[in-house]
Amino acid sequence: MVSIFRPSDFHVHLREGPILNHSLNENLKHFQRILIMPNLSNPITNSKILLNYRNQIEEIGSNQMDILFTVYLNDDWSIKDLENSYQNNLFFAAKLYPKNATTNSTSGVGDIRKLSKHFEILEKNSIPLCLHGETIAPFDDPFEREKIFLNKELVWIQNNFPNIKITLEHITTKDAVDYVKENKNIGATITVHHLLENTNSFLGDLLKPELFCKPLIKNRSHQLSLQKAALSGNKKFFFGSDSAPHLSKKKFNSQCCAGVYSSKYGVSNLIEFFSSNNKLKVLDKFLSINGNGHYSLDFNKKKITYKKIKNFKFVSKTRCNQDYLIHYNHYNAFWLLNK
Ligand code: NCD
Ligand code: ZN
Repeated sequence: MVSIFRPSDFHVHLREGPILNHSLNENLKHFQRILIMPNLSNPITNSKILLNYRNQIEEIGSNQMDILFTVYLNDDWSIKDLENSYQNNLFFAAKLYPKNATTNSTSGVGDIRKLSKHFEILEKNSIPLCLHGETIAPFDDPFEREKIFLNKELVWIQNNFPNIKITLEHITTKDAVDYVKENKNIGATITVHHLLENTNSFLGDLLKPELFCKPLIKNRSHQLSLQKAALSGNKKFFFGSDSAPHLSKKKFNSQCCAGVYSSKYGVSNLIEFFSSNNKLKVLDKFLSINGNGHYSLDFNKKKITYKKIKNFKFVSKTRCNQDYLIHYNHYNAFWLLNK
């Protein structure tokens, strides 16, 4: 048996329509709080779209879970609408996608230096900034984009807006771990698949579309740096699954979409990982204490218990909209929440 606080996931893509139904219900089973991403097919770039999305989620129902919304930063957000929406508690954080860096980022930001007015609003109102930290220059190597982003873009943001609280999302490199450790006012989310996979499992043998995501999964040495950061309990590192469901026809296709759907087995994988490293004591830090601390949020300290299922058989897909969603699961093990 393992007893932990009910986890928080600070980076989730719930999507819309039929996928929203699935992903929301899956998240309700595991988390007390989730921070959800705004890269819808029509991204959340004004308060009208935001309100509409809030209504869609409310209709499905999410009573027992705290859902924190993000908005999608770009030139289209009028400064006034952004500030008013925040002051009316319609969203919790702002997300910055470099243009075309990942799924649904065509409306993202081409040149972050042109967003200064928006950054001023974030700084003035203490709105957290969540960053997809990759560069988009056409000749930047896809495996190097996170590292290049740190010096080229992130340093600029932090030098010019030192009071913005930043979350560097889904970090994948030792460079990012070091940057976050060494700088103020910044924390980082780590996904379960970047912790447990590396370039060997992703493309060392047969190519696995189900592990294709942005930023790309990196080599063993970077993976070990992420593992060390997560297992250390350092308050700057916390769980954000980046769970990003796509229908299988979009994954197993000549143009595979980036995104790994990990909501169903994510917590189970983390219990297995922390316990196999004899670090179960640190799991609460990674899954609830550090993330909520970073965002100065209170959370429910009631412990819940999980038990390991015997003879577990992994079911890799769930039917959705005449197609399937493919679940990520690293270990052939499952920890079930005791009701
Ligand atoms: C995410 C998605 O599918 O929305 N994909 C991904 O590869 N991580 C977007 C993102 O967070 O980059
Ligand atoms: Zn994401």
